[in-house]
Amino acid sequence: MSYALSMKCEVCGREFPLDSYVFRCLECNEPLNVIYDYESLKNVVSRDSFKSRVFGVWRYMELLPVRGDSIITLFEGGTPLLKSERISRLFGFRNLFFKDESRNPTGSFKDRGSTVGVSKALEIGAKIVGCASTGNMASSLSAYATKAGLKCVILIPHGTPMEKVLQTLYYDPKVFSVDLPYPELYKLSFEAALNYGLYLVHSDSPMRVEGQKTVAYEICEQLGWKAPDVVIVPTSSGGNFSAIWKGFMEFYELGFINKLPRMICVQSSGCAPIVEAFKSGSELKPWRDVKTVAHSISNPNPSLASGNRVLRILRRFNGLAEPVPDDIILNFQKILAVSEGLFVEPSSAASVAVLRKLMDYGDIDKDEIIVCILTGSGMKDLSVVKSYVGFPFKVESRDEFFEEVKKLLQ
Ligand SMILES: Cc1ncc(COP(=O)(O)O)c(C=O)c1O
Ligand SMILES: [Zn+2]
Repeated sequence: MSYALSMKCEVCGREFPLDSYVFRCLECNEPLNVIYDYESLKNVVSRDSFKSRVFGVWRYMELLPVRGDSIITLFEGGTPLLKSERISRLFGFRNLFFKDESRNPTGSFKDRGSTVGVSKALEIGAKIVGCASTGNMASSLSAYATKAGLKCVILIPHGTPMEKVLQTLYYDPKVFSVDLPYPELYKLSFEAALNYGLYLVHSDSPMRVEGQKTVAYEICEQLGWKAPDVVIVPTSSGGNFSAIWKGFMEFYELGFINKLPRMICVQSSGCAPIVEAFKSGSELKPWRDVKTVAHSISNPNPSLASGNRVLRILRRFNGLAEPVPDDIILNFQKILAVSEGLFVEPSSAASVAVLRKLMDYGDIDKDEIIVCILTGSGMKDLSVVKSYVGFPFKVESRDEFFEEVKKLLQ
């Protein structure tokens, strides 16, 4: 049973039914939050009630807005919280953790949102799901739509490199290439939702946010029912940042944790509209000249999505936002692989690349419990790593091979 009540705008308070094809507030165009009957939930869920269930998104059934008879799952979530050994030593941290979201079925945290969004679509009788995306969200949604037997529409701009959409195309959704920039595609998808019953599961649709919030629940459990001191989130549209914050807030509200973490939003210096607005205390403005290798965090205009919501969270709850340049992102992508065995995409490496700066500024402390969210797999963008790998060591004979092995043992 679900205890979800409605979708509510946190700015004007207007509410919308859970089964409506409304994905943003029709009054003020801000994102909507699914709200629950928290008082009843307090009598229904407990730390023990979760314990006997599979560790993953659906472990938290009562805190998700789906009835239960239409769940479409590929076993998402339940990802490891790895304690850093060698990067910790490099900086002197004692409690640095990586939440490795690359282990999800299609290789990113998006699967948490897709399982809930697609299950909800099925529950309310939608025939088509869709989103505008060239990356992880597109492939994730396509996989879950296929599993559900639903049609899937993906909107991409003209000129999107084929390598970016190969994984998506492989699941056989209907991929439309349109001669419009990404923000316009986003608007187009909303029109299709309103007029033609396309059920959106885009970056900050309320149902996606619900699935993605479970990463916060898992972290609390993995830390022994404790919130971390600091959570660092690579941010683009702000859907995931908002989701993670919502997860911590709900566990706090339900009494499962007794404090909230400081949230840190990290963006690439080549596309940092949220950071810019936060630091200057001004409104969000579109980023003019996007230049970054971290493609997954390159939304130039997050005010159309959850950028304002992220700013509200940062300003109200003592958060921080920092940019990090591409060269440092790429360095840390490599360091994560060679020192921790983790192959993540550049966007994910940004959450680790920003650590030195945060430490130098005195924004984080060596003893604090710090969690970096590694949002997606390095397998997604192999073109980036090409210039960072050496060549295989060529040997001409068995003897030479054995000689080289002996050298390795010295
Ligand atoms: C790997 C990865 N990291 C971070 C993000 C940013 O998430 P959001 O757009 O919800 O801020 C994305 C979004 O596509 C992503 O694919
Ligand atoms: Zn509103």
